[in-house]
Parts: sequence; C-alpha cells; structure tokens
Amino acid sequence: MEEELLRLKSEATETLVACSNADELESFRVKYLGRKGLFTSVMRNLGNAPKEDRPRLGQLANTIKKDLEAAFTEKSEAVTQGQAGKAKSGDDDLTLPGRATPVGGLHPVTKVMEEICGVFERLGFTVAEGPDIESDFYNFEGLNIPKHHPARDMHDTFYISDNVLLRTHTSPMQVRTMEKSEPPLRMIAPGKVYRCDSDITHTPMFHQVEGFLVDKKVSFADLKGVLAVFIAKMFDENTAIRFRPSFFPFTEPSAEVDIACVICKGEGCRVCKQTGWLEILGAGMIDPEVFKKVGYDPEEYSGFAFGLGVERIAMLKYGITDIRLFYENDLRFLKQF
Ligand code: PHE
Repeated sequence: MEEELLRLKSEATETLVACSNADELESFRVKYLGRKGLFTSVMRNLGNAPKEDRPRLGQLANTIKKDLEAAFTEKSEAVTQGQAGKAKSGDDDLTLPGRATPVGGLHPVTKVMEEICGVFERLGFTVAEGPDIESDFYNFEGLNIPKHHPARDMHDTFYISDNVLLRTHTSPMQVRTMEKSEPPLRMIAPGKVYRCDSDITHTPMFHQVEGFLVDKKVSFADLKGVLAVFIAKMFDENTAIRFRPSFFPFTEPSAEVDIACVICKGEGCRVCKQTGWLEILGAGMIDPEVFKKVGYDPEEYSGFAFGLGVERIAMLKYGITDIRLFYENDLRFLKQF
C-alpha cells in the first residue's frame, strides 16, 4: 500500500506539472483529489492493511494529499495569471483580429439635434441653452401671451406653482437673450420642452430648436432664405417647401412651414394624411410687442424667429412612425442609428 501511495504521488505530481489550462486542472482535481478520486479510494482500503501499519500509512496518505492540494492551488493561480500574459508564450496566433469592444452611440434625437445645430452654426448662428424650469413671464407673458389668453390652452402646461412651470417651448430663450444683449443677434437654442400630452405623435417631454435673428431691415425673405437652406441640408436638396399662414402671439405675420412628404414625395400617403405635405416648424416675424417688452425699438429693428420639433424631424428622416420608441430605450431600436 505504501508503494501504491508513493506511485500515485509521483503520477499526480507529473500530471499537475503538465496542466496548462483551467479544463486540465479541473480534470486533475476530479481524478486525484475529488470525492471519488484515486486518493480517496486508496485511503478507503486502509482498513485492509495490517493493524500496526495503519497509523503510519494514514499519516503518509494525509501528508501526500495535503501537499498535492497545496501544489494544485498554487498551479491554479499561476494558470489564471498566466492567461493574461499568454500572448508572449508563442503558441498563440497573433495575426487573429482582436475581440471588438462594444461601444455606445449617440441617441437618435441627440444626433439629429446636433445635425440641426450644425447647419445653423455654419450660417453664423451661436448656440445657447436656457433652463427647463421657467417662469410664467419668460414662457408666456414676455412672449405676448397674457394670462387667460386662449393661446395658453394649446400648451398643456405642467405648472410647478402659479408662476413657475416646465417650459412648453424654447421661445422663452428669445426673451432671455434679447433682454440682456443688443442687436444684431443670430442665435439658436436647443433643448427639452414639456407638455402634458402622450400618444403616438406626442410625448410629455420632447425637444425643440429655437432660432431667431434680429437686426436692422430683416425681412420675411431672410426668414425664407434661411429656412430653405436648412431644409435643403437636412433633407433632400430638392425638397419642396410651402409657407402656410398661421398664428402665434409672439410673431406677426406667422407661418407654419411644410415640406413635401418625404415618404410619398407629395403623392399622398398615410404619413401625410393624403395631403402630400408635412408640417415641420412654426415661424414668423418677431412681434413688435415682444420687442417693446425687452426694450428694443420696433421702428429700428426687425427680426424673425422659428421653432422646430426635433423628434418630428428625426421621425421623418428615419421613417419612424411612433415617437414613443425614442424613449423606451429598447437597444434593438437604438442600435440601428
Ligand atoms: N414656440 C412655437 C411652438 O412651440 C413655435 C414658434 C417659435 C413659432 C418661434 C414662431 C416662432 O409651437
């Protein structure tokens, strides 16, 4: 029996030295040290040995097993650590391509917003951001929308208190900017806006980009020129545009701007409700009443302003029919951009 133990010891030691990875180590452990392993079965036979030899043999078996266990632990650690530096060992194919690290990407809304800002920046507009929590003055009063004005109805405002609210549009930035600087001004203001509304084309939070330009002798033709360049850059070069008369309390005259449907090219389809046109923004010449509130002389200065919905443009660009997809954070959707 003593002989058998010693033979097992040298066999096991040799096997352990030859182990070079986690799988081999595990088979070693099962074969020699496990509950059904060779050592266990030899020790089970201890009862068959002559009585006077038993203590000595038992002790020997224990020492060998302990030594092997220690060697096993040491080897396991060496193998795990060695894996990192393995490329040096020479049996790896260093010409294999590396494993790709998954990288994140920008949200489609962020991407489109950056693209929109980029177009206007190239036209000389500077970018400014304002607060999401706004006062009644900047969101309404300063924009010629007094209390109880019917135009407040369309805004579905989230109020925080009587005079504090979540801004319903980015137009407050017109007032904030004009209040603290003198013309000429050329500015865009991207950001989040909030309205209590939710269905396939509305989310309670969405994004707008406000734009405005104030100087001497600014005309509606300048507004049209700037928007035509913007639409040509954002969509197809030949996208048809139309200006429809509209109303906003802070612009006069006001217009809503449509582009020929990007899906059916003006033929009429479900997306454009058979009209061939899609509304993409509101705009107009800044109302003299707004100039008066910020202390500009409406006889000296004129300007235009426009506000566009970022999600709406992203939906048209990418052919998305449900706005809520932007905010569900489903990676299968987000990974497509
Ligand atoms: N603020 C308006 C809206 O949210 C859009 C707009 C901006 C219209 C600037 C005219 C001028 O509907």
